[in-house]
Amino acid sequence: MYHIKNLEQYLTDYKYSVEEPELFWEGIAKNNFTWQKKWDKVLSFDFSKPEFKWFEGAKLNITENCIDRHLKENGNKTAIIFEPNDPKEKEEHISYNELHARVCKFANVLKSQGIKKGDRVCIYLPMIPDLAISTLACARIGAIHSVVFAGFSSNSLATRINDSECKMVITSDGSFRGNKCIDLKSIVDEALNSCNTIETVLVAKRTNSSVSMNTPRDKWLQPLLDAAKDECPIEIMDSEDPLFILYTSGSTGKPKGMVHSTAGYMVNTAYTFKNIFQYEENDVYWCTADIGWITGHSYIVYGPLLNGATTLMFEGVPSYPDWGRFWEVVQKYKVNQFYTAPTAIRAIAKENISHVKKYDLSSLKILGTVGEPINEEAWQWYYSNIGQKKCPVVDTWWQTETGSIMIAPVPSAIEPIPTFATLPLPGIQPILVDADGALIKDHLVEGNLCIQFPWPSIARTIWGDHQRYKDTYFSKFKDRYFTGDGAIRNEKGYYRITGRVDDIILVSGHNLGTAPIEDCINEHPLIAESAIVGYPDDVKGNALYGFLTIKSSINGNEHEELYRQINKLISDKIGPIAKLDKIQFCSGLPKTRSGKIMRRILRKIACKDADNLGDTTTLLNPEVVDEIINHAV
Ligand code: PRX
Repeated sequence: MYHIKNLEQYLTDYKYSVEEPELFWEGIAKNNFTWQKKWDKVLSFDFSKPEFKWFEGAKLNITENCIDRHLKENGNKTAIIFEPNDPKEKEEHISYNELHARVCKFANVLKSQGIKKGDRVCIYLPMIPDLAISTLACARIGAIHSVVFAGFSSNSLATRINDSECKMVITSDGSFRGNKCIDLKSIVDEALNSCNTIETVLVAKRTNSSVSMNTPRDKWLQPLLDAAKDECPIEIMDSEDPLFILYTSGSTGKPKGMVHSTAGYMVNTAYTFKNIFQYEENDVYWCTADIGWITGHSYIVYGPLLNGATTLMFEGVPSYPDWGRFWEVVQKYKVNQFYTAPTAIRAIAKENISHVKKYDLSSLKILGTVGEPINEEAWQWYYSNIGQKKCPVVDTWWQTETGSIMIAPVPSAIEPIPTFATLPLPGIQPILVDADGALIKDHLVEGNLCIQFPWPSIARTIWGDHQRYKDTYFSKFKDRYFTGDGAIRNEKGYYRITGRVDDIILVSGHNLGTAPIEDCINEHPLIAESAIVGYPDDVKGNALYGFLTIKSSINGNEHEELYRQINKLISDKIGPIAKLDKIQFCSGLPKTRSGKIMRRILRKIACKDADNLGDTTTLLNPEVVDEIINHAV
């Protein structure tokens, strides 16, 4: 893969990619992949529709590029290392040859169960090899995978299955996470009570717990795999055929099923993986994300395998059996590139440093972070204690919608500085605009972060709702993609992402829309109204503060019970990640004369900044604000 070696080359490439975007991306596409047929046109786009087509006319299969292409020279190289939750359980080393056979077998099982090109398959699995293998198996036969993070509740799972009308669910009997054993199969069963498109449920064995099987719908995976052939021809796909759907929270309504294409996604993830992580032959690369998120799709599965890399999949959590677990794994496999989230770094940094010092981390070359802004303290801790001041900390800014990393210091070219994602990758054209969409040319001014030119891995639509895609990303500012993030730029042109400018809150790096949580709380019979805001948290980045009004008065003890019930409701409907950290029961919420909740005021109160409420002249009920301030938690 083409590789940026120094600053000069970065600058040359960047300039070329802006002046000649088609030639730039064509050069990368031409030289690094196997195409069944080359494209007729590199790019056509129309922001007003919006529509983006990359490598139109090309034919390919991404799994041929992830697997088959490496077999001749690197068949015995390890593709995936699987490190189980329990350190006493033996790990797995899956070579490219074995991965080929296992993906083919799985693909044949999918076919035997009636899955065809274009069908949607929901994957609800823990971080076990079958998760990566089943995504690749879908891609091999042209089925569209929709991976749902296995921490989501049955209700969230059902919403996602129904939205894209999946035909099959792939799950397991259960999952191990730390000292917990979670009964995934019954979560699926509950979800399927409200789904009617699912024909088959394939169940992998992981925990060996007893589960109920609903025949003929439910089938054990292993006997089917045992009987399947280990060769499966690739389905020839068009460049723009959907590769997968991945749901991300919206600020309102149901989650958005972002649809990613085949060729553009492939080219972009492969290029960014190589350049951000500077992967060299024989390196061991580890991204701690879950494949249920975009980071796992692009930088555990597709990006690394497209580069013929060795990618590590970890089933467990950073705190089990103790807080040294990540570093034990780094030492065990001599990990060279390590990619994690600021929330994990902050959680580990709070624990005793002896958990880090016990291990030899000298193999590390590059440290990455993703998912939310990394504060200076966490950055310095990571740089000094994990990287031992020798490894660049690469702060990578991107989104589910962007498919691949957009802004980050390419380590061979740009020296990272804390709290800045720094400069765009070649091919990416960020800009800042003010509230009216006017271009901000100055430095050190905060603006709305937009991208003014298409890049290959931009999501093409929201499944079943192109209008929402247009409204969310392309309507606020004409002819550009709006990220929903705010940013500032320094005098060197480096970007610092300041956070969301919409009603999405990042909790432990997870996107949470406030409206869906409020809708869920409002279902409780005692709750009249609710407003959720974020406030800073040392570990999670942001935590959730709920201001709730109750229909009838209740006493102190009942408050506690209600608090518990509300968090249970959220946990069941959305998932434990959306639980509230603080709840305040109020007699009313601050509103404008037109009846809108003034969240800005609640945000200030939650952030303990009530002395700076700003303009409150439009408030309908100022007395409520005093009451809320006096009883803030
Ligand atoms: O607000 C930005 C934040 O995460 C959002 C995207 O979330 P998601 O689609 O879940 O993808 C996360 C993994 C790519 C962005 O809009 N974000 C992501 N990376 C960073 C970040 N904020 C600051 N710095 C980052 N490096």
